[in-house]
Amino acid sequence: MDGRLQVFAGNSSPRLAQAIVSNLEVPLGRAIVGSWKDGETRVKLEENIRGSDVFVIQTLCRPVNQHLMELLVILDAVRRASAARITAVIPYFAYARQEKKASGREPISAKLVANLLVTAGADRILTLDLHAPAIEGFFDIQVDHLRATPILASHFHRLALPDLVVVSPDAGSVGRAEEFRRRAGGSLAIITKQRPGPEQDEVLEMVGDVEGRHAVIVDDMISSAGTLVRAAEELRARGAASVRAAAIHGVFAGDALRLIQASPIEQVVVTDTLPLPDEGPRDKIEVLTVAPLIAEAIMRIHKDLSISALFT
Ligand code: R5P
Repeated sequence: MDGRLQVFAGNSSPRLAQAIVSNLEVPLGRAIVGSWKDGETRVKLEENIRGSDVFVIQTLCRPVNQHLMELLVILDAVRRASAARITAVIPYFAYARQEKKASGREPISAKLVANLLVTAGADRILTLDLHAPAIEGFFDIQVDHLRATPILASHFHRLALPDLVVVSPDAGSVGRAEEFRRRAGGSLAIITKQRPGPEQDEVLEMVGDVEGRHAVIVDDMISSAGTLVRAAEELRARGAASVRAAAIHGVFAGDALRLIQASPIEQVVVTDTLPLPDEGPRDKIEVLTVAPLIAEAIMRIHKDLSISALFT
């Protein structure tokens, strides 16, 4: 597109934003993104963006609501300052786990957030590994949906663990685990959850052989780490030689880092779509960056080049 490429960021992940603009070799746009004394979000752009192709980077990490509001207010400021096109770059799209009504009288929060982003001024969305891919369809604007599985899989391909088994911790993650296996090698195992009776605890069932193998659990996100730790314990109980994990979004809510530290998991590899929490043990956590991937996607959007070519 003709307009100048300009990039702004909220306060959610300054390190990732800086890494993205460094890869792009453009400066981060000057803006005040802070709060008024009463806690309301305050934004002022400090440079001209009239007619520009503007990208606003904001991941939706904790405090999620504050970071979402910051993003909305920045988008509003950018729209009112006459940008030619506005792309919201959201490395981790929060509120994605309520994308349908599981029972009556529940919200569809993912759709609400989609509506808010468009109302605030987004013309396009650039995001990574949506928890539910159907959320793309909640937008009537263009969504570029990047996948970071190749970054995680390349890491494990380089590790070259013998007798690798890639494990999907639930039925919903099989597609991602299979893509990972194709790129990293090894065999595939799938954990499914069964509830034998209405009053009985869930039991884990497994398809595939893990005995004596080095297991990597592949998931889209780690929040409480409950899913991960339970899967790891099951794998060890079934004779896995070692257990590692790879996930795109390291949310690490509550006691997650401590749970991982105390678990049989040797290593957890995540990307930097969210910053690591300030508190909690990180010895087992390794972070790979998505900054070059996001920067490349921004440049391709700006130059009207293919994004899918990034994943072939
Ligand atoms: C489930 O659908 C997801 O793929 C993750 O397994 C889940 O969201 C992880 O959450 P937690 O870490 O709280 O178990």
